[in-house]
Amino acid sequence: MKKINVGLLGFGTVGSGMVKILLENHKVIESRLGASLALKWIADPDLERDRGIAVDAGLLTTDTEMVVDDPEVDVVVELIGGYEPAKGFILKAIENGKQVVTANKALLAAHGDEIFSAASRKGVEVGFEASVGGGIPLIRSIKEGLVANRIQSLFGILNGTANYILTKMTDQGKPFSEVLGEAQALGYAEADPTFDIEGIDTAHKLTILLAIAYGVPIDFNTVYTEGISKITPLDIKFIKEFGYRIKLLAISKDDGEAIEARVHPTLIPDNSMLANVNEAYNALYIKGDAVGNVMLYGPGAGMMPTGSAVVSDLVDVARNVIRSAVGRVPSVGYQSACIKARRIRSIEELKTEYYFRFSAEDRPGVLSKVSGILGKHQISIKSVHQKGRDLVGAVPIVMITHEAKEAAVRAALSEIDRLYEVIKDKTVLIRIEDWK
Ligand code: HSE
Repeated sequence: MKKINVGLLGFGTVGSGMVKILLENHKVIESRLGASLALKWIADPDLERDRGIAVDAGLLTTDTEMVVDDPEVDVVVELIGGYEPAKGFILKAIENGKQVVTANKALLAAHGDEIFSAASRKGVEVGFEASVGGGIPLIRSIKEGLVANRIQSLFGILNGTANYILTKMTDQGKPFSEVLGEAQALGYAEADPTFDIEGIDTAHKLTILLAIAYGVPIDFNTVYTEGISKITPLDIKFIKEFGYRIKLLAISKDDGEAIEARVHPTLIPDNSMLANVNEAYNALYIKGDAVGNVMLYGPGAGMMPTGSAVVSDLVDVARNVIRSAVGRVPSVGYQSACIKARRIRSIEELKTEYYFRFSAEDRPGVLSKVSGILGKHQISIKSVHQKGRDLVGAVPIVMITHEAKEAAVRAALSEIDRLYEVIKDKTVLIRIEDWK
């Protein structure tokens, strides 16, 4: 049986998942591939830590460069994460004519075009299924399963840590800081959890999805990004009363003229399918012009799910190597000559409904002042609640607006927040999305 030699860089959570799968499922994988995926090296600076997997000690090395240069290695799997040295190893592996598999969304969102161009020039493949959506085959579904479609919109819950936190805040009323610790303990969070909670990891993933959905160059800076660290239990309580659930959503829409690309906490109807994607699960809701609505759902983080996606890439590149069909599907699913920049809308151009929570003095005339400013900026109120007098000092006034322009909303809120006599804190703004 033909053998495809694999060199793994990075024996962390996902690397351990990949190794476990190769050891435990090698029979079923061989029966599908018609070849064996042979682990030749596992490189990691820390060979002492017990990963709970019985690997042959002869596979372990601290010499990453040796693995990348080993002429017998066919595929290099980069699971180190971060920018350097991961990028250098990937480019070296490509230069050495090796296939590459990576889960490194941060690196691809920043340097994807450079990496994919180098691979295309050299005639090798870069698989990155594990970079978005953990174990859910999102990338392959868009590149291949939905190849017939012009993608019209994407709505994604793409970060397990943030989704876990918002789920626990909503269902158990816990504060943000307490549940962040739980998510970290469960092994979902990035090395730097700021990436998870400030929306950066979701934005990395959306950047990759934009390229495969629309054939645009990879440019992380085009995605508007806001995280969940300022969401309070008080807002969660009001959100529920209005019939919404809060999710950190990656949203993209293509109306033919320009593309929207944004990541922010979003209120969605509590009976919608995405509202019921909870804990560390991820989902992507895709609208294609031919297929209609498709939702892909599954575990978005963790050792075995992400390991499953890595192994799917290994099988994919191995199949293409065996049949001399490397490059059969282009890296981002578009022929490189057809990748074109498109206009990405700024957040100020957005038109949507909004949730506002004002912290106001409870006295006559406050509401009329606030609504007067909103009216002046053409912002129409759909519903308003003033919540009790039980809180000391300011009381929360909570509003839902009709569709309004973000630029007008920003101008109005900055005026309202300067009513220092009656407005006691910065107004909370959360965008609403009702895509039905
Ligand atoms: N930190 C990421 C998450 C891991 O929480 O979803 C998967 O990319």
